[in-house]
Amino acid sequence: MALKDLISISHLTTKEIRQIFTTTADLKAHPRNYAEALAGCSVALIFEKPSLRTRVTFDLGATQMGASCVYLDHQGVRIGERESVKDMALNLERWVDVIVARTYSHETVIELAETASVPVINGLSEFSHPCQGLTDYFTLTEKVGADLRGFRLAYVGDGNNTAHSLIFGAAKLGAHIRIGCPKGYEPSADVLKTARKEARKTGAKIEVVNDPYEAVDGVQAVYTDVWASMGFEAETERRREIFSPFRVTRKLMKTAAKDALFMHCLPAHRGDEVDADVIDSKISIVYDEAENRLHTQKAIMLLLVRANQ
Ligand code: CP
Ligand code: NVA
Repeated sequence: MALKDLISISHLTTKEIRQIFTTTADLKAHPRNYAEALAGCSVALIFEKPSLRTRVTFDLGATQMGASCVYLDHQGVRIGERESVKDMALNLERWVDVIVARTYSHETVIELAETASVPVINGLSEFSHPCQGLTDYFTLTEKVGADLRGFRLAYVGDGNNTAHSLIFGAAKLGAHIRIGCPKGYEPSADVLKTARKEARKTGAKIEVVNDPYEAVDGVQAVYTDVWASMGFEAETERRREIFSPFRVTRKLMKTAAKDALFMHCLPAHRGDEVDADVIDSKISIVYDEAENRLHTQKAIMLLLVRANQ
């Protein structure tokens, strides 16, 4: 792994993603072998927004490898308000070996990474959620095998941070991703452009359609996320009307391939983006994804620390 930071999946090579997956699988199978892997290290967890999975799994993951964590609760106080992002980075780098940041603005994560001498990991920004995307593709390798070239995935809903990371992941891994979203809620044009350029090398396919049934047609997995991401709560009611045709229902799942899987990064809103009889059924792998956040992020921390020693 040559990178200093993990800001976006688009910055990783396909080889580095495979290295993350191999390390994740080994960490998952033999966690005790890594009990001292980060002994003496410290990790700062900066969260501007709420979190269950990301916070718990980074904290436990670091602790399980012998590191200690400091949680900086900035919920309600935006990073950079009390002191500049730059000063925060220049202080933290004197004490910790890794910074994990969940921020409103993607620019904040970039500034932390550009300033701090230690690895910075994007724990979700409004632009992307790389740890989630890597975990999701790792989880798919467990279900269908290591080679995801040609794997058919649909993402139905908001063209948001999670969608961006899934698009970048598909592009790197040669998977076929079809985004089904309402008009005006498509993924960023820049993300699509970058991913499609990469796709020409890997055989990936990146499609965007505005009909959920067309998106799901024949796919092997259907993914959705909340309709109003953190920071967009004021739009919840308006979005509920716009997105309701994009709810993942049993009827929609019937358009997918037989035995298609259901995926969600969580938290989920049953009755909004997904019906309970889909997310709580046996086709759902949402808790496997949640579990794998732990193993994948342990691999990410370990590989970044080793690369920067
Ligand atoms: N999927 C995810 O990132 O969950 P949290 O917001 O709970 O961290
Ligand atoms: N798109 C969601 C993901 C939560 C894990 C959000 O940003 O709120």
